[in-house]
Amino acid sequence: MTFKHFIPKHIKLEQIGSTNSYLYDLNIENRQENGTIVSAKNQTSGKGQTGNKWLTEKDKNLTFSIITYPKIKPKHAFYLNIITALAVQKTLADLSIKTKVKWPNDILVDKKKIGGILIENQINGQHINQSIIGIGLNVNQVIFDSSINATSIINEGIDIEIADVLQQIYGYLDFYYNLLLESNFKLLLKHYYTHLFWHNEIGTFVDANSEFKALLIGISDIGLLELRLLDNSTTYYDIKDVKFIY
Ligand code: BTN
Repeated sequence: MTFKHFIPKHIKLEQIGSTNSYLYDLNIENRQENGTIVSAKNQTSGKGQTGNKWLTEKDKNLTFSIITYPKIKPKHAFYLNIITALAVQKTLADLSIKTKVKWPNDILVDKKKIGGILIENQINGQHINQSIIGIGLNVNQVIFDSSINATSIINEGIDIEIADVLQQIYGYLDFYYNLLLESNFKLLLKHYYTHLFWHNEIGTFVDANSEFKALLIGISDIGLLELRLLDNSTTYYDIKDVKFIY
């Protein structure tokens, strides 16, 4: 299979702390091509967003990272989240699994988390010169800790090889990456909104001060969550400053 931008070198590891961190370090030692993948059957110190841990059962799930050199402006960094969320969403849609993307990029099935994305960018002056896109997707894990509301592809009734899921996501990511490099921002945002959890709906949120209800208007140019409060004022939130109550 050929790709528009990615050169599909795949480094397969049995076990690693974090595929994102491994790929970052490897790239310092030896520069990797655009699209190099690192996957691991077991990830022992998986990193989640906002300093959380990403827990995954050995041999059951997809944990992988891809390095890219997008050369886009830092103000467009959020579009890397968008293209990755869309690649995962489309892969699951092909399996008849309907997902929603909870801003910024949690992948949900009926409010249960099936996947997460952690993107670590390096900005050099005017451009993002390196982006490590990390994806964790629950594939064959059946039992989850009761403290997390999670699901997996198998729990949604689909039996598929982990490697095939990775191939699909990779192909779609290359496709959406192309739209990004062509500056198709409006189109990407439109697709993202189609799948955005609570878009144009009133939801319950909590910030540093209190719990409140607000209308989810959308995402700002720089990737902030735009909420309209019941007094009609508009507020923008960064990821660490607001939580969804659902
Ligand atoms: C989240 O939902 O908080 C993001 C989870 C991201 C997990 C993936 S698994 C592969 C890659 N390596 C990591 O250490 N984290 C990401």
